[in-house]
Amino acid sequence: MNKTILCIGAGYVGGPTMAVIADNCPDYKVIVVDVNAERIAAWQSDTLPIYEPGLKEVVERARGRNLFFSTDVVAGIKEADIIFVSVNTPTKTFGAGAGKAANLQYWEKTARDIIEHAESDKIVIEKSTLPVRTAEAMHRILQSNTKNLNFDIISNPEFMAEGTAIDDLQSPGRVLIGAMEDASGQKALEAVADIYRNWVPEEKIKKTNVWSSELTKLVSNAMLAQRISSVNSISALCEKTDANILEVSEAMGMDPRIGPRFLQASIGFGGSCFKKDILNLVYLCEFHGLPEVAAYWEQVVLMNDYQERRFVKNITSCMFNTVADKKIAVFGFAFKADTGDTRESPAIYVSKLLLEEHAILAIHDPQALEYAKLDLADCEGDISYESDPYKAAEGAHAIAVLTEWKEFRDLDFKRLYASMAKPAFIFDGRNLLDHQKVFEIGFNVYPLGQKVLSHL
Ligand code: NAD
Ligand code: UDX
Repeated sequence: MNKTILCIGAGYVGGPTMAVIADNCPDYKVIVVDVNAERIAAWQSDTLPIYEPGLKEVVERARGRNLFFSTDVVAGIKEADIIFVSVNTPTKTFGAGAGKAANLQYWEKTARDIIEHAESDKIVIEKSTLPVRTAEAMHRILQSNTKNLNFDIISNPEFMAEGTAIDDLQSPGRVLIGAMEDASGQKALEAVADIYRNWVPEEKIKKTNVWSSELTKLVSNAMLAQRISSVNSISALCEKTDANILEVSEAMGMDPRIGPRFLQASIGFGGSCFKKDILNLVYLCEFHGLPEVAAYWEQVVLMNDYQERRFVKNITSCMFNTVADKKIAVFGFAFKADTGDTRESPAIYVSKLLLEEHAILAIHDPQALEYAKLDLADCEGDISYESDPYKAAEGAHAIAVLTEWKEFRDLDFKRLYASMAKPAFIFDGRNLLDHQKVFEIGFNVYPLGQKVLSHL
C-alpha cells in the first residue's frame, strides 16, 4: 500500500467520503474511526448507519480490502500519514456566540488526540465545515507538540449533498484544497491532490490558500440557501398575484446567468448544514465588525422560518381556522428525498406548530420514521407513526406533503380520498403531486406559490 489515510468521524460525510476514496484508490489503506461504537458496528455490518443510494455497493467493494472501520482512534493516529477530520461542528448552544457560532470542541478534541498519540509527521485535513481561520488555531495547537513533529493543515471542505452523496463524490463539481503558502504547505497540498487525482480530472481540482478554502465552504452553502429563500419569498407573492412559482422559476432559470438549479419553492430548506453554516457566517461577520453583512445573510434564515410558519398558518386558515382534533397525515419527514436524515428538517417545525394547534398527526416517511420519533419525543399531543401511507391517511382531514419522495406521486389517490374525512385537503409543501389529477378526484389542493384548486 502507498499510504495510510485515517478519517476521524464516521458520519454522513466521513463514511461515504472515505468509501469513495478507498474504492478509487486501491493503493491507499483507508481507516475510518469514531468514538461511537454503535455507528462503527453498523458500518461493519450489512445495515449501514445511514441510508444513501449506492453507498452499500461502494462500501461492500472496498470494505476489508483497503477500507476499515474501527473505534481505535489511537491506533489509527499512530498508523496514518494523512488524517481527515470529519467530526461534527454544530451550532454552539452555550456561552459566547450561542445560537450562531460553531462549536469547535469536537474538532479541538481530535487535534489534541493527534498531538498526544502521533509518532510521526502528519497532514491534517479539515473535512468538517469550519469558520474561516480555524486552521490558524489548529496549526498553533498541533505545533505546540513537544515531540518535534511537523503538522501541515489542509482545508478540503466537502460539497456532497445527502441523497446524491455517491454521485457527488464520484463526479464532483470541484475538489477544493486550501493550504498554507509555504513549501511544506504546498507539498502537503500536492499529497492530498494526489489522492483525488486517482479519479478526479486535474481541472476540477481547485487549489487556493487555506482561508479562501474555509470561507468558500460557508459561502457556497449560504449562496445555495439564499436562492431557496429568494424563491420561497416569491412563492408568497405568487399566491397573492396568480403568478405561478413553477413558471417563474423555470423562466428565470433559463437565463444562463441565473441557471435552473436550486430554484424549487418548498416549505423551507432543512439539513444539518445550511442553517448552521449561515449562522456561523453571520457570527463571523458580527465578530469582525460587519453588522450590515451579518444582517444580509441572517435574512436568509429568517425567510426560511417565515416560510415554515406561513405553511402552517395557511393549513389552519384553509381548514376553517382550526385544526384542533383533526387528523393530518404528514407525508414525508426527512429533510429531503432519498435520505433518512431529519436534522433541521422543516417537517419537525411544521409538525410542532401543528401540534401546538392541537392537530392529530399521523406521520409517514419511507426512511425517516425512527428519527421522526426521536425528533418529536418531547412533544405533547396525539402522534402516530405509520409505515403505510394509506393507514396514515385513514380518517384524516388533510395530507401535508413535506418531503419530495417520488413514490408519493404514485400513490392511489382515489383510495386515499375514499378513506379520508370530507372535505379532504392536500397541502403540497413541495409542489410534488399532479394537482389537477388529485383535484379531479375530489381533493381541495393547496400548492405552494400556485393557484389553489378548491371545490369549496
Ligand atoms: P455526523 O454527526 O454525522 O458525524 C460526525 C461523527 O464524528 C459522529 O459519528 C461522532 O461520533 C464523531 N466524532 C465526534 N467527535 C469525535 C472524536 N473526538 N473522535 C472520533 N469521532 C468523533 O456529522 P456529518 O454530517 O458527517 O458532518 C461532519 C462535518 O461535515 C460537519 O462539519 C458538517 O458541517 C460537514 N458537512 C456535512 C455535510 C452533510 O451533508 N451532512 C456535507 C458537507 C459538510
Ligand atoms: C447541502 C449542500 O447542497 C451541499 O453542497 C453541502 O455539502 C451540504 O449542504 P444537503 O443539505 O445535503 O446539501 O442537501 P441539499 O440538496 O442542498 O438540500 C438542502 C435543503 O434545501 C433540503 O431541505 C431541500 O429540500 C431544500 N431545497 C433544495 C429546496 O427547498 N429547494 C431547492 O431548489 C433545493
